[in-house]
Amino acid sequence: MEQYVIKGGIPLVGEVTIAGAKNAALGILAAAVMTDKECIIENVPNVRDTRVLLQAIGEIGATVRYIDEHTVSICGGTITNVEALCVDDEFIRKIRASYYLLGALLGKYGRSQVALPGGCDIGSRPIDLHVKGFEALGADVVIDKGMVTASAEQLVGKHIYLDTVSVGATINIMLAAVFAEGKTTIENAAKEPHIVDVANFLNSMGANIKGAGTNEIRIRGVKELKGTEYSIIPDQIEAGTFMMAAVATGGNVLIKNVIPKHLEAISSKLSEIGAVVEEYDDSVRVIGNREKRLGATQIKTQPYPGFPTDMQPQMAVTLGLSEGTSVITENIFENRFKYADELTRMGANIKVEGNMAIITGVSQYSGASVVAPDLRAGAALVIAGLAAEGFTVVEDIQYIQRGYECLEEKIQALGGKIEIVETEKDIMKFKLKVG
Ligand code: UD1
Repeated sequence: MEQYVIKGGIPLVGEVTIAGAKNAALGILAAAVMTDKECIIENVPNVRDTRVLLQAIGEIGATVRYIDEHTVSICGGTITNVEALCVDDEFIRKIRASYYLLGALLGKYGRSQVALPGGCDIGSRPIDLHVKGFEALGADVVIDKGMVTASAEQLVGKHIYLDTVSVGATINIMLAAVFAEGKTTIENAAKEPHIVDVANFLNSMGANIKGAGTNEIRIRGVKELKGTEYSIIPDQIEAGTFMMAAVATGGNVLIKNVIPKHLEAISSKLSEIGAVVEEYDDSVRVIGNREKRLGATQIKTQPYPGFPTDMQPQMAVTLGLSEGTSVITENIFENRFKYADELTRMGANIKVEGNMAIITGVSQYSGASVVAPDLRAGAALVIAGLAAEGFTVVEDIQYIQRGYECLEEKIQALGGKIEIVETEKDIMKFKLKVG
């Protein structure tokens, strides 16, 4: 199995270019099957989750073609089987976003069937809100033997109130409602930048969606969608991860191809603890401080525009090196502190009580062998390894590869010492090489 080996203690310095947003891409790639015409999608991050979803889209008969590494052509006109995404499919079960095909295919064909979605184990991840939304639009939804089947003669627009703010349910209902007769309103909708991106993509195909990015999305049903060319927004979480890596290593990194507005919650917390964040039109420069430890703070994860749950582990690693005691309250997922034990092995002082982590900063982490429990926690452990004294090995990096494109190459370009290895011998070689 692949692992990362890292020699820490080197400040990251230089420039990094951020890829397209994974979570926007997943919604957009699924939405692309809703027209029989060709869609050309640019800035698709080349990560495991997008590759797996594209494979699933190919499996139902759509024509999927990579024009280059980050540009994909999808034509939904050749779809033959809306029930091909079966429970035994090892790929589809691995990614959460497979459920976007439920909404997209239900909207287009009046029937869809997908294996219950997998994804990172960060707490119970029900799909009841997705189901309620489809049912409100007039669909029958059956969950049986690990499969979700949705069907409807004709979807009809409705007023739908989401009692929890959910990114996935908002996108899925929006997809299904594109072809529903009349007007659908989604109230208490999620406002994440990728919701806006999926809505903009659908509108560029001829959908009629208004209010995306606010808590009320209004969709007027249309009869058909056309092909389009579209470029995905930059990944807010990848950008945030590099911001944390710059700060935790006391480095100085220009993070390019970002929308600074999307990073505000992260930038303002980093400024508050004493890091320097300079915003430009489409980049941010983040400067840590090697001479003086940063300060402590309180973080509460919230739906956008609050502090993102997907940045919580990386922030914890940064706060673990700050002076004083910080408290992180996780309000979105109940099992998102699984990295705490691993970080403790690196010398961090973290106590988890319910949905709170109490972090008393230490002056230095020490390298250790750790296991990535999920995607973002895995990235956080890489940051800890980059900041730590000595060598760190991060196992189970397949989680990290779900959502970060060429993470090791981008870190190497910033002067970080990191490599993918498979054996003890590779680790020894790395140690000899970097000294
Ligand atoms: C998406 C992101 C994920 C991010 C999360 C929160 C994708 C592919 N993944 O996940 O990276 O961490 O948003 O920003 O975009 N809930 C229900 N019932 C439902 C759906 C959700 O109770 O039917 C609850 C969840 O348990 C959770 C909360 O709603 O407590 C938010 O989850 P949601 O926004 O749906 O997360 P995902 O879309 O799965």
